[in-house]
Amino acid sequence: MLKRTCYSDNMKDGKEVVLTGWVHERRDLGGIKFILLRDREGIAQITAPKKKVSEEIFKSMDSLGREWIIAVKGDVKSSPQAPGGLEVIPTEIEVISMAEPSLPLDPSEKVDADIDTRLDNRFLDIRKPRVTAIFKIRSDVLTAAREYLLSQAFVEIQTPKISASGTEGGTELFPISYFEREAFLAQSPQLYKQIMMATGMDRVFEIAHYFRAEESNTRRHLSESDAIDIEMAFIENEEEIMYILENLVSHILKYVSENRKKELDLLGVDISPLPKSFRRVTYDQAISFLQEAGFNVRHGEDLGTESEKALGNIVKEKYGDDLYFLTKYPLSTKPFYTNFDGNVARAFDLDYKGVEISSGGQRIHNVDILKTKIKEKGLSVSSFEAYLKTFRFGMPPHGGFGLGIDRLIMQMLNLENIREGVLFPHDRRRLEP
Ligand code: 4AD
Ligand code: MG
Repeated sequence: MLKRTCYSDNMKDGKEVVLTGWVHERRDLGGIKFILLRDREGIAQITAPKKKVSEEIFKSMDSLGREWIIAVKGDVKSSPQAPGGLEVIPTEIEVISMAEPSLPLDPSEKVDADIDTRLDNRFLDIRKPRVTAIFKIRSDVLTAAREYLLSQAFVEIQTPKISASGTEGGTELFPISYFEREAFLAQSPQLYKQIMMATGMDRVFEIAHYFRAEESNTRRHLSESDAIDIEMAFIENEEEIMYILENLVSHILKYVSENRKKELDLLGVDISPLPKSFRRVTYDQAISFLQEAGFNVRHGEDLGTESEKALGNIVKEKYGDDLYFLTKYPLSTKPFYTNFDGNVARAFDLDYKGVEISSGGQRIHNVDILKTKIKEKGLSVSSFEAYLKTFRFGMPPHGGFGLGIDRLIMQMLNLENIREGVLFPHDRRRLEP
């Protein structure tokens, strides 16, 4: 097999190269034949003028089908009309793998496909340069997140994904049979990352996998999703957590905008301006904004999808901000571990263009108060024994957040559906691929 010498975006005029990739398109103008060859970095034009290539090569180009994998050896020449201003005059073409002629999805995007067809044929869908771009950006989101958190003395950890109890409320739990007992897939690393605060490792983060049995089929919920979870100790209030979160998100956006210009252009996305500090909107303010705009929202309830979206538009109009914190929620809307001042939760959400991308706050670190709150939520104290024990032998004040990676990518890239930014999204209806 011919060995690739470079990707399509790294060719130099006058050099001999070997490219490997997929047949994106074929054109035959009689005296000259073209192949558009696609690899992960772009598309290269293979140009075969009858007079300049061997008869064998000229003929063999007719037999190639769409999406066949080939290796092409040839000479790079400048050509103003070709993508990237370069073309390859082939001296050798090797077929590496053939594709059946009737494709269930067209990776060259000449034919549109709905989201279900795309996901049913995800391996073909990801061949589209715009879809590949999303996953290159996603990789950079994680690189940037690690870079920032490590710079702030956070230590990366991994915690179990099978757990004995739920953490974020009971209804979204996936029960599994665990030998003779019932267990659950982890909704978040919440309890484990808090336990870590009792170990002395006072700043930790996890790129975590969440499992949630979301009943309804929405454009922003999945059964499995990923998040950047952090927990940090010796804090005085939730503002210290918000400071880390806004700097983390700013760093991610800056990193992506600097390193992925080509991909952002392909997606038609501009992620500037990049604010360093995000606006704070209190829950009370949010409710008044919505009521003024004629929305039927009641004080004391969590914001629904529609009000969240409307609030996004209002904040954008009033202040020009895409990213803003919602603070001072009523305690009743937040999970049992949330610290509080009276009826107000010491917790926040971060919204991006009208969609919640993160929740966090300061936690309760007094074991007696924690037990009371567990009971008040109708949960059983006995199922949290292993967690509660760690609060009895020296637990510092602490807090943290979970930042949904899939949501962040959806909002950053203006994707219509969260599924577009996830390789193999699973939801109530979809378990395959
Ligand atoms: O708001 P959530 O449920 O908060 C927690 O899990 C807390 N333990 C976080 C903390 O440290 N206090 O989830 C955090 C984020 C959400 O804001 C959302 O971005 C994402 O995780 N998320 C989901 N994304 C897609 N599909 C789902 N079903 C999601 N559930 C949560
Ligand atoms: Mg939340």
